[in-house]
Amino acid sequence: MTTDVRAFIEANLQIRSAPGVPEIRLHAAHPKSRLSRIAGDVPPYWAYGWAGGTVLARYLLDNPDAAKGRCVLDLGTGSGIVAIAAALSGAASVHAIDIDPNAVVAAGVNAELNGVMVSALCADILEATAPDADLILIGDVFYDEAVALRVLPFALRCRDAGLQVLIGDPGRKSLPIDALRRIAAFPVPDFGDVAGNLLSDSGVYILK
Ligand SMILES: C[S@@+](CC[C@H](N)C(=O)[O-])C[C@H]1O[C@@H](n2cnc3c(N)ncnc32)[C@H](O)[C@@H]1O
Repeated sequence: MTTDVRAFIEANLQIRSAPGVPEIRLHAAHPKSRLSRIAGDVPPYWAYGWAGGTVLARYLLDNPDAAKGRCVLDLGTGSGIVAIAAALSGAASVHAIDIDPNAVVAAGVNAELNGVMVSALCADILEATAPDADLILIGDVFYDEAVALRVLPFALRCRDAGLQVLIGDPGRKSLPIDALRRIAAFPVPDFGDVAGNLLSDSGVYILK
């Protein structure tokens, strides 16, 4: 029997304002969600808040000109928080990409919840040429060394093709800090911070 992921999300996750970005509401995991029923062995990153996505969403909402009128691609969208922030800021179009099919469903459901249009796709585009977009958003996708090693060349290809690349990150070990210039910082909570404590070092970066 295939599980209807959308129905599962709506029935088993709680709608909450995103910590640090109260303008955006998301379906969020709670202790009784039992996400393993749909996630299996794939970590359900889409059901949680991540400092990198949170800080980038905060930046976009506070600086709407960054995305306004632009064609945006959110790489590793998870819950869709960054894509939703771009859409709320007036982006001309927003594509949200993730390799996890459940994330793609979650991002679509969350976009609807916030009344914005986001086109969510399940794909791995890291070996591809730069997409047809103006702005690439990367929220907390340097969380894993193997992923980070593939994300940086893709991001550099995008930059070399004339796209702007903005990255949100709390300073993960694999963040390629030497290739980046920090343009903003906000104290935001991170994954697992159930008490809502604030991090001091979550930044928004542009590829140099
Ligand atoms: C730490 S989560 C961050 C999610 C979201 N950007 C946020 O900040 O809330 C990283 C996300 O990157 C996705 N991801 C990993 N490798 C990817 C790839 N090659 N292409 C697209 N997404 C990828 C994961 O499935 C996961 O949803």
